[in-house]
Amino acid sequence: MKVFIATDKPFAKIAVDGIRAEVEAAGFELALLEKYTQKQELLDAVVDADAIIIRSDIIDAEVIDVAKNLKIVVRAGAGYDNVDLEAATAAGVCVMNTPGQNANAVAELVFGLLIYAVRNFFNGTSGTELMGKKLGIHAYGNVGRNVARIAKGFGMEIYAYDAFCPTDIIEKDGVKAVASAEELYSISNIVSLHIPATAETKKSINASLLARMPKGAVLVNTARKEVIDEVELIDFMISRPDFKYVTDIAPANDAAMKEKVAAQYFSTPKKMGAQTSEANVNAGIAAAKQIVDFLVNGNEEFKVN
Ligand code: 3PG
Repeated sequence: MKVFIATDKPFAKIAVDGIRAEVEAAGFELALLEKYTQKQELLDAVVDADAIIIRSDIIDAEVIDVAKNLKIVVRAGAGYDNVDLEAATAAGVCVMNTPGQNANAVAELVFGLLIYAVRNFFNGTSGTELMGKKLGIHAYGNVGRNVARIAKGFGMEIYAYDAFCPTDIIEKDGVKAVASAEELYSISNIVSLHIPATAETKKSINASLLARMPKGAVLVNTARKEVIDEVELIDFMISRPDFKYVTDIAPANDAAMKEKVAAQYFSTPKKMGAQTSEANVNAGIAAAKQIVDFLVNGNEEFKVN
């Protein structure tokens, strides 16, 4: 059996070594494609793969079609919007993610971005503090929970909205559950986005929602760029010079944002939320263990299709 790691954005070496140890202990072979620039490199590499470990790498119908031996794809991370689930299911390929494994890394970056924003991007002027501010967590999954845990240390008032998470689960963490996204945005000085990119959520963060946020508000996005209505966002930010947007996923209109709302906007040059050696080890080794357990024992826990 051949397990393939296909990562445009490579794991730390320690994570690759850990994955190799898991795969080889099961008697399987490990192959690696990193920092590829052309889709053809991926297509050529996966032709004889039985299993593929990916990050944000795109696994579409064409990739699935050329990989005739493919049995399982594991997205080492949370979001699997980069995998064509329908094509995988049609080809009998199991798709999994590794929920929670990189959640702390992403949550810590939320606060890195927030401090940078509320201190006016370190431009020397007086900023504000996080203590006492109302933080709205939009979706209370693994990352949202870690954000809440860290926010307590900052002395923030914490609110959350999640259409699928029961109120008692949210409130047992000392977080106030609110009934709608509209209510969350109306209350919060800061909103941290943790919704997945789905047909329902794409472009759902729009001007009418953001306009509810109080003066001096900050939106921090470590989730997906697709959930933002980027055309409405830039116009909204021009009309609200007090509002800041900080993100770990550059919007398609990054150049226009830098030109028109430079003092209110920051994006990391490359998605960095899960890019720590700890998260790479956690997610990468979980992916390897899940593949071995699936191929050897047929365990389908964490299957998403
Ligand atoms: C995730 O969905 O797990 C994060 O967005 C991390 O993505 P990455 O593995 O491409 O850094």
